[in-house]
Amino acid sequence: MSLVNMKELLAKSDSSFAVGAFNVSDMEMAMGAIKAAEEMEAPLILQIAEGRLRYSPLELLGPIMIAAARQCKMPTAVHLDHGRTFETVRLALTLGFTSVMFDGSHYPLEENIEKTKEVVAMADKFGASVEGEIGSIGGAEGDMASADIKVTSVAEARRFAEETKVDALAVAIGTAHGNYKETPHLRIDRLKEIHEAIGTPLVLHGGTGLTAEDFRNCLENGITKINIATASYDSSAAKIKEVYKAKPEANYFDFSEAICLGTYENVKKHMEIFGLRGKSRLYL
Ligand code: 13P
Repeated sequence: MSLVNMKELLAKSDSSFAVGAFNVSDMEMAMGAIKAAEEMEAPLILQIAEGRLRYSPLELLGPIMIAAARQCKMPTAVHLDHGRTFETVRLALTLGFTSVMFDGSHYPLEENIEKTKEVVAMADKFGASVEGEIGSIGGAEGDMASADIKVTSVAEARRFAEETKVDALAVAIGTAHGNYKETPHLRIDRLKEIHEAIGTPLVLHGGTGLTAEDFRNCLENGITKINIATASYDSSAAKIKEVYKAKPEANYFDFSEAICLGTYENVKKHMEIFGLRGKSRLYL
């Protein structure tokens, strides 16, 4: 099994399941995600966003993520989330990431298309897949500037998909990164329209805080990849606090295990909701 291209993982997704993409920031989180995937016998995407590299430099964390994916018994892709610069995208590809996202959603459409096309050409040389973004997903992923939601238009999504030929497309349908301050209003109607208009696998960002019903609604209407970041960070942080409360004399290794366990529990919970149990058999 081990390290695979993201495109291959998404190709098998149908309206009964979506592949979970889980952000990690250290070895412990990667280990937790892998343990969950192996127990669930599920495909996995490990990812890190450019906005988090201040804490986890790509040169250091990237090789750990790739080694973790190689060791995982389930098919695992390693993906750069929200790549903002060509330098970071190039570095991820050089390190062996099997997929990169170029997030040009803050540029005017023409410029987003041109820059994304350059990334597609670059990734092609490495046999890696590319995710693009059109519209604007709310909130911020790490150091990335906070944005208001701008729902993806069908016409723009069609043009973007046709011209860039990305392997996956992140759409803005009312979700936002981080914990929701108020209940999000999901535009399932728009998701359906985009799905009917283009064949490109669609990606849902801002998964933290959505209900199981929201997730099912999204994957039944065209979403093939779902991103979860904040929920794993929160789950790991909560586990550390729990360990400390129960055992104030806890040492470094107790906390290290807590991070792993917090991520494991969160990833497993989401994999169950995404319909991923046993789905690794589709990739044999
Ligand atoms: P959350 O932090 O809301 O789970 O969003 C994750 C995400 O979309 C990463 O790109």
